[in-house]
Amino acid sequence: MDTSYQRLDTSEADLLADFLTDGTWPFHGPAVPDRDTVGQRVLDGHYDGDDSRTFWIVEGGEKAGLIRLFDLADAGEGGTPLFDLRIAPAHRGRGLGGRALAWLTAYLFTEFPDLRRIEGTTRRDNHAMRRAFRSHGYAKEAHYRDAWPGEQGRVHDAVGYAILRRDWLSGTITLPDWNDEAPTT
Ligand SMILES: CC(C)(COP(=O)(O)OP(=O)(O)OC[C@H]1O[C@@H](n2cnc3c(N)ncnc32)[C@H](O)[C@@H]1OP(=O)(O)O)[C@@H](O)C(=O)NCCC(=O)NCCS
Repeated sequence: MDTSYQRLDTSEADLLADFLTDGTWPFHGPAVPDRDTVGQRVLDGHYDGDDSRTFWIVEGGEKAGLIRLFDLADAGEGGTPLFDLRIAPAHRGRGLGGRALAWLTAYLFTEFPDLRRIEGTTRRDNHAMRRAFRSHGYAKEAHYRDAWPGEQGRVHDAVGYAILRRDWLSGTITLPDWNDEAPTT
């Protein structure tokens, strides 16, 4: 099925609120923003402004997912953009998230020619997101213990991945040197 990526228009606050409040987001913490908050954030440039851009993932004419790119203001001047990727529950597990990750990676490296790297963090048990990272050129760079507050007072580990422009261009994955500490005597 055809997939396209369409920039969010500021007139689409209601559609965005529908998308966010209709879906379940098990790895985004308990707080689902209410409609008024979504509307205010659209006005404030949280989704589209100097520092962020948001795209619908449209499949077969349906809004099946959302990509929010942020920390863009200093992208290419040493800064590293981040993203939030959400596929609506009915569309998960069919390759859309992986393809969206490939698309947003190419989009950022193309839009910001001096950008060296893109980062993404997720919860340790978000297996689909972790596999998508691994399948699309991202390397695990960080493991943060007890860093992700969950439901009912639980905490989870968080894991950080990143892709380098030079790896993206060459189709390789450069792994960090994890054994770079001098042995203790
Ligand atoms: C995480 C998410 C973006 C992945 O998108 P998706 O369309 O569901 O995933 P895909 O079908 O593209 O699959 C990506 C990979 O995960 C695997 N996968 C898919 N669902 C899985 C599951 N439930 N458990 C384990 N692996 C899974 C696929 O086999 C694929 O692996 P491969 O790359 O080795 O072939 C999507 O499920 C989602 O939006 N989840 C809720 C929001 C979220 O967690 N966003 C990420 C926040 S950081």
